[in-house]
Amino acid sequence: MSKHLQQVEVEQHKTESNQAFETIRSRRAVRHFSQKKISDELLREILDLTNRTPSGFNLQPWHFVIVNDSSLKKLLSHVSMDQRQVIEAPCTVVFVADPRAWKKSYKEVLKLALDSGSLSKERAKRYRKSVNLLFYTGPFGILGFFKNIAVTLRRFKRPTPNVITSKSEAGNYVVSQTMLAASTFMIAAKAAGLDTSPMEGFDEFRIKKLLSIPSYMRVPVVIALGYAIDVEETPQSIRIPVEKKIHINQFTKKK
Ligand SMILES: Cc1cc2nc3c(=O)[nH]c(=O)nc-3n(C[C@H](O)[C@H](O)[C@H](O)COP(=O)(O)O)c2cc1C
Repeated sequence: MSKHLQQVEVEQHKTESNQAFETIRSRRAVRHFSQKKISDELLREILDLTNRTPSGFNLQPWHFVIVNDSSLKKLLSHVSMDQRQVIEAPCTVVFVADPRAWKKSYKEVLKLALDSGSLSKERAKRYRKSVNLLFYTGPFGILGFFKNIAVTLRRFKRPTPNVITSKSEAGNYVVSQTMLAASTFMIAAKAAGLDTSPMEGFDEFRIKKLLSIPSYMRVPVVIALGYAIDVEETPQSIRIPVEKKIHINQFTKKK
């Protein structure tokens, strides 16, 4: 490749990176939205990008419930500690994490990967085995109890990763993956010229009832989405200096 072309590529990369950097820098948790509607195509595109989020074993344990009906928005706001952004924003997306995604849903992931040729039969088998080993806790969680003992003993001898030994651990696992998707969602929305308001102040039990979400599923976050007004009134974005968060080679206590 010529030097000129190489230079062009570097510059192009720089511009693209800067756009992404700028999007991340300018994202704020806004509290007031205009009534401007979001087109269905744009919302679908943002959710399609959200669905591109990486996940352990490519499990993709998330679901997105879009709430845009005005009377439902009022009810959702009520169970979200009356947060006004839910009523003001044209829609709010409720992020749902499925602790049972490792069963039926993962079957679909493996089938899609096999059909597309991106995974060999042997590797698919290995993935299936690993995921079962990670998640399966047996009837009444009995196996989970023994898994816990086995893992503790094994760790004395060799490096051993965490495994899931209870339903609540399975829930925490899928919640952590779904929160990554929530992050992608906020960045994708900002890149599309929209603003978001993430919320964890809500009654999970009541949200599940309101939106017919199965009780075994988890709701880690709800995010209002729309066009912000009064962004200037959003309190200044405060961060502890990153220097206090960076540790080189060893974790060190910082003042
Ligand atoms: C998981 C999560 C839950 C949050 N819950 C709420 C909430 O219930 N209500 C609220 O007003 N803001 C909520 N926020 C917004 C935070 O207060 C905000 O992100 C933080 O103050 C940093 O501000 P910035 O996002 O504008 O940089 C939440 C943010 C996150 C990531």
